Amino acid sequence: MAEELFRMEGICKSFPGVKALDNVALSVNKGEVHGLVGENGAGKSTLMKIMTGVYSADAGAIYIEGERVDIDSVAKAHELGISIIFQEMTLCRHMTVADNIFIGRPAHKGPLIDDRQMHKNAKKILDDLGININTYARVATLSVAQQQMVEIAKAISYNSRILVLDEPSATLTEREIQQLFGIIRNLQKKGVGMVYISHRMEELSQICERASVLRDGQYIGTRNLKDITMNELVNMIVGRPLEDKYPRYERKIGEVALEVNNLKAHNRLPLNVDHFYVRKGEILGIAGLVGAGRTEIMRCVFGADRVESMDVKIDGKPVKIGSVIQAIDHGLSYATEDRKFDGLALGLDVEYNTNMAHLRQLSKFGFVNDKAGARNAERYREKLRTKTPSIRQLTKNLSGGNQQKIVLSKWLCNDAKILIVDEPTRGIDVGAKFEIYQLFNQLSDQGVAIIMISSELPEILGMSDRVLVIHEGGINGELVTKETSQEEILYLAAGYNKMESKATPMIS
Ligand SMILES: Nc1ncnc2c1ncn2[C@@H]1O[C@H](COP(=O)(O)OP(=O)(O)OP(=O)(O)O)[C@@H](O)[C@H]1O
Ligand SMILES: [Mg+2]
Repeated sequence: MAEELFRMEGICKSFPGVKALDNVALSVNKGEVHGLVGENGAGKSTLMKIMTGVYSADAGAIYIEGERVDIDSVAKAHELGISIIFQEMTLCRHMTVADNIFIGRPAHKGPLIDDRQMHKNAKKILDDLGININTYARVATLSVAQQQMVEIAKAISYNSRILVLDEPSATLTEREIQQLFGIIRNLQKKGVGMVYISHRMEELSQICERASVLRDGQYIGTRNLKDITMNELVNMIVGRPLEDKYPRYERKIGEVALEVNNLKAHNRLPLNVDHFYVRKGEILGIAGLVGAGRTEIMRCVFGADRVESMDVKIDGKPVKIGSVIQAIDHGLSYATEDRKFDGLALGLDVEYNTNMAHLRQLSKFGFVNDKAGARNAERYREKLRTKTPSIRQLTKNLSGGNQQKIVLSKWLCNDAKILIVDEPTRGIDVGAKFEIYQLFNQLSDQGVAIIMISSELPEILGMSDRVLVIHEGGINGELVTKETSQEEILYLAAGYNKMESKATPMIS
C-alpha cells in the first residue's frame, strides 16, 4: 500500500489582478515521483513556492505524514525536510561548488570555519548521488547540466524527504536527462517523495507514476499514467482537444535571403563554417548537441560576437555585419535562448519589453509613440495568448513560459526579414507551442526567412524545410527535412559522416 507523505488541500493564492490558485489539492506518496502539469501560468510554480515557504497561501492546509504543518518560511520548510529546485537557477556563479551547496551553513571546528570539512561533506553528497564534479570548481565554469546537479546536491543537503523539481529538464540534453532520472530513481529508493514539473509529456511517462493537472489556477484532477493516454492528458491540460502538434503547411520558398560564407571565429570553441544560406519563406532548422556551437555560429551572423572572417550576402548583395546594430539595420532579428541573461529587462513591464527592440519603428521625429507601443504590445499578447493581467505588469511577475513568450514577441514584431530563433519553445506549454508554430508559418508566408535552432528533434522535423547539423563548430551535414529522420540527424550530430551512417550500424 502506498503511504502518503504529504498533502495540500484547498490552497488559494492571489496576486494583484491574478487569482493564481483557487482551491487546489495535491497529494504525494513516499518514494513517489508525482508529475505536475499545466499550461504556462496555470499555477504550478506558485503552488510549489507555497509548499516550500517562499509564498504564504491565502487559504488552505498542508499535512506531512498526516500531521498539519504551518510552513511560513523557507527555513521552516527546510526544517521539515522540504526542498525545491527552482525553474530559474539560483546558484552564486563566482563561488565554489561546496560553498554553494552549504551556503549560509559552513562547517565549524570550534569557532572557526572548517573549509576542508565542508568540501568533504559536499563530496560525500555528490558521491552518494553519483555526480562527478570537483567541489572546488567555481560554478561559473560548469555546464548548465552540472549546475543543475549542484542544485540537486544543495537541495539534498538539507536531508530532504520532499523534493520539488520545477522544470529541471528544460536546459538539459537527452543524455543529461537520463542522468538526472538516475539520480531521481536513487532518491526514490530512499523514500524521498518528489514533485516533477515539466512541459515534456514524454518525460512524465518515463519517470512518474501519477500526474496532477492544473488549469488557470484550478485543480483539474490526478491520474495514474498507466490508465491514461498522452492525448487524454494533453486534453486535460489545455481543456480542449488538440488534433495536431504541428500545423500542416505548404511553404512558398523564394530567392536566397541570407548567404554566409567563410565564417571563422575563435570564441569558446573554434568556429569554421564554409557556406550556408536560407531562402525567403523557408525555415532552416539548426540541429546539434548542446555545446556544438549552434548558438555561437548564429551570434556571429548576428554581429554579436567577434569573427576572424565572415562574408555575408543579403538578397544577393554583399553587406558588412560588424555589430548587432548593423545586423538589425539589414533586417536581421535574434530571439535568444537565455531570457534572463540577454533577453529581458525583468524589472520593467511587458509593454516595454515587447517594444524595446524596435523603438525606432514606433517613434516619430525621435519621440516614442506611446499609443502605437501599447497597441503593439496588446497585439502580441493576444497572438501568443500571454497570460498577464495587463501589459503594465512587471515581466518578473510572469510565469517562466510567459516570459519566454515576451522574448519571442520582442523579436517577432521587429519586422525582420531574417529571423533567428534560438530554442523558441523551451518552457512553453503544448497549446502555446502550436500557436508559435502558426506564427512562424504566417511569417514565412510574408517571405520572412527563419533560422530555427532547436534541441527538440520532433520540432525540427515538424517545422523546418532543411536542416543543418552542427558538430564541433562546423556544419556536419545538410539535409532536406522530408527525406531525413531523427536517427540520421542524431548520427550527424554525434560527428559521424553521412556515408558511414548508411554503412555502419550504430552499435557494433
Ligand atoms: N510574484 C507575482 N506577482 C504577480 N503575479 C504572479 C507572481 N507570481 C506568479 N504570478 C502569476 O500567477 C500565475 C501563475 O504563475 P506560475 O508561475 O505559478 O505559473 P506556472 O504554472 O509555473 O507557469 P510556467 O509553466 O510558465 O512556468 C501567473 O498568471 C503569473 O503571472
Ligand atoms: Mg513555472
